[in-house]
Amino acid sequence: MNELKTKSPILLVDDEEGIRRVLGISLADMGYQVYTADNGEKAIELIRTIRPPIVITDIKMPGMNGIDLLCRIKKEFPDTEVIMITGHGDLNLAIKSLKFEATDFITKPIHDDALEIALKRSHERLSMRNQLKSYTEGLEDLVREKSAKLLEAERMAAIGQTVAGLSHTIKDLAGGLKGGAFVLEKGIEKKDMGYLNQGWEMISSSVEKIAALSMDLLNYAKTSEIHCQICHPDQPVEEVMELMKSRAEKEGVVLQFVSDKNLQPFAFDPEAIYQCLFNLVKNALDALQNIHRKSGDKTITIRSLHCNGWGVEYRVEDNGCGMDRQALGMIFRSFYTTKGTGGTGIGLMMTKNIIDKHNGEIHAWSEQGIGSRFTVKLPK
Ligand SMILES: Nc1ncnc2c1ncn2[C@@H]1O[C@H](COP(=O)(O)OP(=O)(O)OP(=O)(O)O)[C@@H](O)[C@H]1O
Ligand SMILES: [Mg+2]
Repeated sequence: MNELKTKSPILLVDDEEGIRRVLGISLADMGYQVYTADNGEKAIELIRTIRPPIVITDIKMPGMNGIDLLCRIKKEFPDTEVIMITGHGDLNLAIKSLKFEATDFITKPIHDDALEIALKRSHERLSMRNQLKSYTEGLEDLVREKSAKLLEAERMAAIGQTVAGLSHTIKDLAGGLKGGAFVLEKGIEKKDMGYLNQGWEMISSSVEKIAALSMDLLNYAKTSEIHCQICHPDQPVEEVMELMKSRAEKEGVVLQFVSDKNLQPFAFDPEAIYQCLFNLVKNALDALQNIHRKSGDKTITIRSLHCNGWGVEYRVEDNGCGMDRQALGMIFRSFYTTKGTGGTGIGLMMTKNIIDKHNGEIHAWSEQGIGSRFTVKLPK
């Protein structure tokens, strides 16, 4: 016999001692390590300990018969090949056993040729199954490896984008500081108060921007966690109204809040949501800044609405400059800003981050020259 089968364990189950002995000798001659059992229960116990890849069992046995044993083996150890030994009149039983996934059947009296053919079939099936298993495992590894690489690439791209945006902002700020320092130096050199004042103004405005940027970054880092508490959804809107009304008034913008009286308190992070609404209103005010509309015609409306299945829906609408489609597709990206050194491009990224953490939704609608509307939905 070939080397593969050397010492491979095989279990022989038969209630007739004579068959166990004769067949046992043949199998041992073929190079198997032969284990025997005289009934189904003992066979199952042996299989659990020695795990033979092949089991040969008589089909008719007192107690658990061969078909029952076959079914139990296939249920508990589906990779085991089971060869049935049948008597002359057992054709129906033999066919039944094939239905239950027996590998083959051999009829008594057992000829070595028939036995060898059945065993060859078993080995072919075993090696085919092993090959299939290693192919599938290889495939799974490949998929795992590829997705890990893809995720890493995405993460690196996101970091790259963030770093690029941040460096751009810092470069602008450094440019402002350098310019200021240059004018200041000229002022000192020429003892010219005009230069000195101008240089100083440039420097202090850059310093203010740096302070604002670091505050934004700090706030952004803080949004990594949200702390929910039961709160009325109008509360953060009222706080934003309070803070923004004087700037709105100064810039001739009508800032109004329309609340839905059916709203009920629910759990969310009021401070984080305040931050979001503040960003949206600040952007709306910025969007109205260079707009040629009669003051009084410039409006920002914040609405809190009851929305089925949600805790609240906020809408922040303005009739400011609006955006084209391309800009609209960029606004939630880190450091995307059209405000030069006047903005850091963190506001909406941070807002989206907070809404995501609440498992909420944020959508933006905008049309150039008409205005914008931001919708935020928070789940109960
Ligand atoms: N209501 C709006 N109307 C028109 N454009 C808007 C509006 N809101 C946002 N944008 C556009 O989206 C860009 C990104 O907004 P975002 O709030 O993220 O950054 P920013 O306002 O530029 O800077 P900051 O970090 O100070 O908020 C803005 O620069 C602006 O071009
Ligand atoms: Mg902003």
